[in-house]
Amino acid sequence: MDAGTAGAGAPLPAVIAIDGPTASGKGTIAQRVAERLGWHYLDSGALYRLAALRALRAGLPLDVPDAAVLAALAGGMAPVFEGGRIRMDGDDVTDAIRAEAVGDAASRIAGLPAVRAALVDLQRRARRAPGLVADGRDMGTVIFPDAALKVFLTASAESRAERRYKQLIEKGFSANIADLLRDLRARDARDSSRAEAPLKPAEGALVLDSTHLSVDETTQVVLDAYGRLRQG
Ligand code: CDP
Repeated sequence: MDAGTAGAGAPLPAVIAIDGPTASGKGTIAQRVAERLGWHYLDSGALYRLAALRALRAGLPLDVPDAAVLAALAGGMAPVFEGGRIRMDGDDVTDAIRAEAVGDAASRIAGLPAVRAALVDLQRRARRAPGLVADGRDMGTVIFPDAALKVFLTASAESRAERRYKQLIEKGFSANIADLLRDLRARDARDSSRAEAPLKPAEGALVLDSTHLSVDETTQVVLDAYGRLRQG
C-alpha cells in the first residue's frame, strides 16, 4: 500500500519516515530523498530545537522542568520554514537552533510527554501532497505509524561524532571530537531509554547502517527500497 487512509476519506499523501540517533545523517538523507521525489520535508528535530531555544531564551529551568509551561511554549510556536531558513518570534533562528546546547536542551524537553503531545499536530500538518519525507526519532513509531516506508538510519558513534564535528565547524561553531562523542553517547542513552516515544526501529523498518556508505549511496538505498514497495 502506498499511502495511509483517513477513515472513509481520501487517501492521505504517502510518507517516508527516517528515524535514527543523533548525527546519523537523517536530515541530509531525508532532504535528498525528498528532493529526488519532489516531496515535502519535515525536520521534526527542528521543532524540538525551536521549543528548546524558546525555553532557554525565556530562562526556564530544564533540570527541574515545568512540563505544563514547556508544553504551552512548544504548542504556541508558529515557526516559518522558508527557503531553507527558519524564523520564529520575529528572528531568524536557523543557525541558533543548531548549537549543541540547544540540541541537548531539546533532548531534555523531548522526554516530557506533554511537550511531545503539544508538537503532534504541527508535525502531522506537514503531510501534504504529493508526499512527505519526515526525519526524527518517532516518525515511524508514533507520528506517522502508517508510513509507506520506515527507515532506521544508524552509523557508528565515532563516525557520527566526526560528521557532527564537520557540520559544526562548517557552521562556524567551535567543536571538539572527544566532547562530541561523549555528548552524543549521552544523548543516545537519553533518547533510547525514555518512557515516551523512545528511539527504536519501528516494526518493519529498514535498518540501514551508513557508517561505510556515502550520502549518495545511502539516498539510493532508501529510494530503491521505496521503488520496490511501489512495484510490490
Ligand atoms: O540533529 P540531531 O539528530 O542531533 O538532533 P535533532 O534531530 O535535531 O533532534 C534534537 C533532539 O530532539 C533529539 O536529541 C531528540 O531528543 C529530540 N527529538 C525527538 O525526541 N523526537 C523527534 N521526532 C525529533 C527529535
